[in-house]
Amino acid sequence: MVDWNQTWKDAFLASRLTSDNYYDNEEQAKSYDAAESIWADGKKRAADLDPGPSWSVLDIGSGPGILTVPLARTVREVTAIEPSRPMISCLKRHLDEESISNVGIINSRWEDVSAKELEPHDLVIGSYSLSFEDIKDALLKMDRLAKKRVVLYWFAGTTNWELIREDLFSQVYGRKPVHYPKCNVIYNLLYDLGLYPDAEVLHGTSFSREYARYDQALSYLRSTLGVFDTTHDELLHNYIESHWRRDDGRLFMEDKTTYVKLSWRPKGTR
Ligand SMILES: C[S@@+](CC[C@H](N)C(=O)[O-])C[C@H]1O[C@@H](n2cnc3c(N)ncnc32)[C@H](O)[C@@H]1O
Repeated sequence: MVDWNQTWKDAFLASRLTSDNYYDNEEQAKSYDAAESIWADGKKRAADLDPGPSWSVLDIGSGPGILTVPLARTVREVTAIEPSRPMISCLKRHLDEESISNVGIINSRWEDVSAKELEPHDLVIGSYSLSFEDIKDALLKMDRLAKKRVVLYWFAGTTNWELIREDLFSQVYGRKPVHYPKCNVIYNLLYDLGLYPDAEVLHGTSFSREYARYDQALSYLRSTLGVFDTTHDELLHNYIESHWRRDDGRLFMEDKTTYVKLSWRPKGTR
């Protein structure tokens, strides 16, 4: 039998460029928060979840509130778990601006939250935030704390930033990049736990980006490759010129990532 938790852990550790959370960086958190397409998609996903008005929701890795904010408008309460302080600043600003008062915020990584500290919530969500070394522990904790449903959003195949790394990584690091573990590993792990999730490919979801300024595009490429100085700028410049579309002074980066939703009814409800 394949040890899917170990498969995840091996790929997770080998693919990481640093043990830091990417979104602890203020510029990166703000750039995510500023992406209109991500907010529009979150609004649509929150509506598709169709939670009842009496529901409580636990949003793990809420970021700036892409799901927390639209869900808080329709449910009884949301608990947002978020380790990045810059992301929490963005979230608090949105809650203030919209006079939303039914959101509790816990500044922590999911693995560091004790299940005893939390009440079970009707809906537990982990949306593009599954940066856990021990995925099995993280998923079992979600399952224990969910009363009606657990919903995850993740990736299939090679993501857009991995495609960029495939093109540039070896010239920067002198070796091939390792890819992050994907939804097939989670599916198989949940299956072996007897949780049999529903799986849906989110056709039409795309977070193509438009950069008004050249330095923003360069900064994105640097952070994708984990370089924070100018050493590789010529390489990155040539990449932008040969791969990204230019229109009216703006640069467009197409998103070729496949996004996936996995969800299941928690074990206690079966
Ligand atoms: C790509 S953003 C996703 C934000 C939002 N959930 C969404 O759907 O757009 C990933 C978020 O997960 C958070 N995150 C990273 N590692 C985490 C962990 N171990 N536990 C909880 N959240 C984590 C990051 O700080 C970041 O805010």
